[in-house]
Amino acid sequence: MARGKGRGGTREKTLFEKVWTLALHRGFIVPTAEIYGGIAGIYDFGPLGALLVNKLIEFWRKFFIVRETNFQIYEINGSTILPYEVLKASGHVDSFVDPIVSCLKCKARMRADHLIEEKLEIRVEGATTDELTRIIRENGLRCPHCGGELSEVTLFNLMFKTEVGPVKGKTAFLRPETAQVIFVDFKKVFQSMRGKLPFGIAQVGRSYRNEISPRQGLIRLREFTQMEIEVFVNPRDINNCSGISDVAEFKFRILTREQQKKGERKAIEVTAKEAVEREIVPNAYMAYYLAKEAEFFERIGIPREKFYFRHMLPEETPFYSGGNFDLEVELSIGVKEVVGNAYRTDYDLRSHMEHSGEDLSVDVDGEKVIPEVIEPSFGVERIVYCIMECCYREDDGRGWSWFQFPPEIAPITALILPLMKKEPLTSIAKKLFKKIRKEGLFVEYDDRGSIGKRYARADEIGVPICVTVDHQTIEDGTVTLRDRDTRKQVRVEMDEVPKILSNLVSGRTKFQDIKGS
Ligand code: GAP
Repeated sequence: MARGKGRGGTREKTLFEKVWTLALHRGFIVPTAEIYGGIAGIYDFGPLGALLVNKLIEFWRKFFIVRETNFQIYEINGSTILPYEVLKASGHVDSFVDPIVSCLKCKARMRADHLIEEKLEIRVEGATTDELTRIIRENGLRCPHCGGELSEVTLFNLMFKTEVGPVKGKTAFLRPETAQVIFVDFKKVFQSMRGKLPFGIAQVGRSYRNEISPRQGLIRLREFTQMEIEVFVNPRDINNCSGISDVAEFKFRILTREQQKKGERKAIEVTAKEAVEREIVPNAYMAYYLAKEAEFFERIGIPREKFYFRHMLPEETPFYSGGNFDLEVELSIGVKEVVGNAYRTDYDLRSHMEHSGEDLSVDVDGEKVIPEVIEPSFGVERIVYCIMECCYREDDGRGWSWFQFPPEIAPITALILPLMKKEPLTSIAKKLFKKIRKEGLFVEYDDRGSIGKRYARADEIGVPICVTVDHQTIEDGTVTLRDRDTRKQVRVEMDEVPKILSNLVSGRTKFQDIKGS
């Protein structure tokens, strides 16, 4: 049984600790600049983590962009440094703030709202700094680190500020979301691609937020990756989403505002069609994306019963929004938002028009239209943690814990093993390994240690299939495929292996469908 050091001696490790330990041990995650003591809220992905991230992004890209045939959607790759003016217009310079409180004794700084919520178990979303200070004073809250007195609550802007060029004065920021690049580029992209509304622009890239208290590993970071889509729609057609018929009967779970007001926590299940008809969502585009996201999350290994969409309460929603729906996942460390879905109306384009003086409207049959925007915004690192926790399996009699990553996103698709480190088994296995790599599949060759140890390592890092070359291979050209999940084996023709693996990765085949030779 995995044990950790608690205050009262040893205690069983929490699920978070077990997953995090395995992720660090196997090099999925490497704390940035660890040899210099690291830096809070910033992590590197090691080889397996980078493979997992890349596969997740590629799967997302195929799912939401390549396979989108209802409207044009293109990915751009914008700069991570933005001039002051962009973020002034977007509202980030004035409003991208969190309430902060400092300890007058040990100088620790912390999120005032988190401190109150944790210590007093009350929600203070939307409260002013004066209200937060009053709650702290009235309840006698003190520094959780040293018991010292706390300062008044002030506001802290989360953007990383910098200056461009050697001359002082040209302020810029590291972008706090990828979205603003899309808004300021919108007109150019629309025109260059001969756009027609509805029109989507997507972007995958880094965002930066100088979080006051980064925590829980990959959950609250200072540098992270977003996969964002902005769908620009003619306001007249906001309920005329042609894709809705593709997903009309898809079901997803949703926690409505009415339920939350009554204190209910159990999400209801609706189809996309019902969500629109019963006006649970503000428009058909929102229903379209919620339904697609529900399918996407199941495909990447997050069970349906673990996530739902929460209609954010008015006090949690920006004033310009027509409705925000967070995809929340129930994790061992609490419920976490991993995707923000927002009906941003025409706020961003209008704001950039006012501040830049440029006309960002588009021509629709001779009429100037400022599109409205639906935005699904995914956080890669939070999703990666969800995948790791939801796919983590305790030792089920095999002697080791393991990751049940779906083949579509597993960092390593298969391990190619000679039964023993002996010729001609090794040469045959190496030849097979090279052939599969040339097909573009990320497989590994391993001839070190006993076959049991090699299976154990493969399971631990979530490799779905082990391909073993043994004595029978020499006689009849067949190999065994071992399924990570069931540990069942099937013999197949060696020549068939690349095709079988590629079908597993694309989701066309499941292991149980593979016919033995
Ligand atoms: N453009 C909209 C936007 O940025 P958001 O809800 O602030 O919306 C979207 O962020 C997603 O980005 C979140 O659902 C989360 O997955 C991820 N995210 C935001 N802040 C993060 C942080 N400090 N660390 C890790 N991921 C974060």
